[in-house]
Amino acid sequence: MAERSYEIVVFGATGFTGGIVAYWLATQFPDLRWALAGRDLAKLETVRAGLSAEAPHCAQLPLLEADTSDPNSLLEIARSTRVLLTTVGPYLQYGAAALDACVEAGTDYVDLTGEPEFVASSIRKHHETASSKGLRIVSCCGFDSIPPDLGAWFNVQQLPRQAAIRCEGYVRTRGNVSGGTWNTALEAMSRPQKGISRGLIPHGHNVRARMLGHRLHRAPLGGYAVPLPTIDPMVVLRSAQLLGYGPDFNYGHYAHVKTKRYLVGGVLGVGLIAGFAQIGPIRQQMKRWIPPGTGPNQRAMDHGWMTVTHIGTEGDRTVRTRISCDKDAGYLMTARMIASCALCLARDRDTLSHQVGVITPVAAMAEALVPRLKHAGFRFEVLD
Ligand SMILES: NC(=O)c1ccc[n+]([C@@H]2O[C@H](COP(=O)([O-])OP(=O)(O)OC[C@H]3O[C@@H](n4cnc5c(N)ncnc54)[C@H](OP(=O)(O)O)[C@@H]3O)[C@@H](O)[C@H]2O)c1
Repeated sequence: MAERSYEIVVFGATGFTGGIVAYWLATQFPDLRWALAGRDLAKLETVRAGLSAEAPHCAQLPLLEADTSDPNSLLEIARSTRVLLTTVGPYLQYGAAALDACVEAGTDYVDLTGEPEFVASSIRKHHETASSKGLRIVSCCGFDSIPPDLGAWFNVQQLPRQAAIRCEGYVRTRGNVSGGTWNTALEAMSRPQKGISRGLIPHGHNVRARMLGHRLHRAPLGGYAVPLPTIDPMVVLRSAQLLGYGPDFNYGHYAHVKTKRYLVGGVLGVGLIAGFAQIGPIRQQMKRWIPPGTGPNQRAMDHGWMTVTHIGTEGDRTVRTRISCDKDAGYLMTARMIASCALCLARDRDTLSHQVGVITPVAAMAEALVPRLKHAGFRFEVLD
């Protein structure tokens, strides 16, 4: 790649999560060549002024104007950088144009989508071209789906990988949602999800990777395991097939709930939201509860936490591993996750895997990502 003006461009820097990404890069990586991009120059100037107050070297940070409705503006920013990091979502609504521009410009790409349809359509549309150009197009670089994807990979690394593996991931977390996530989730709940996984998990590979049956059960860690029908298990299975987690890999993914009260409250709460999200006018009304650009305050984010525990069994050997953090995983640590992914693609090219195309975070950069996430405040433990 001919030298580009920037290592990373952050598109969506005026949004809630994009702002936290920018803050992390500004305060932790003073030597980074980067720029802020968004559709509103005045808003970008305000973001830059806020960054400069904490990190004076950001006073001259370049600002790039780009709107998803203007493909040329996206092509221009894509051509200016090694990696485009985008937090402009919902991705099904706004994401395709930035991704198209990256594939055309030959630019690596990271995003925060958790929308299976978006990833399935990116794979269909771009995997072949991106592979032939040697690009890494990597979605799901936040809470969806780095902890489960990297957690399952980390677990499997502790096993011999000669026989069938049964691996189960249990997620516990505390945090609130942003307007962007709320909007995206309501739209996702209003669409039928059946059959989407078929577009995400590659077929015809030598390695078998299958989803374990969805059922509520007593968790081996105590409490209850509630099947989580998010994009996470599909991302884990795609990684398993791309990297080969043994000859036969079977994965289950659950929310880990400690008490019956939380179990009933959680299932009822999600069920009610999903039910009301089916009705267009009510959905529009609900979107106003958490407006775009807003999210949990600093105090709430400082009090958030996450643990993702994986239990993997191969033959008579069982290993438990955990990835955890002591701050809000949905935004504060999500911002660090996607920033770390972009840094891996921009700076750690010698440690990246040889996988290219539209691929998962783990398939693209597991080895490089672990030290960057440790620096960002994540713990990786082998429990027993
Ligand atoms: N999966 C995960 O783990 C995870 C975690 C966090 C967030 N997310 C996802 O990330 C996305 C962003 O969330 P958020 O809370 O940061 O949302 P947000 O605060 O609403 O930010 C959205 C950003 O997109 C920009 N934007 C919207 N339409 C645009 C357009 N046509 N052209 C250019 N820019 C445009 C907005 O610009 P303006 O400021 O000009 O409006 C803003 O910068 C959501 O889809 C959310 O679901 C995912």
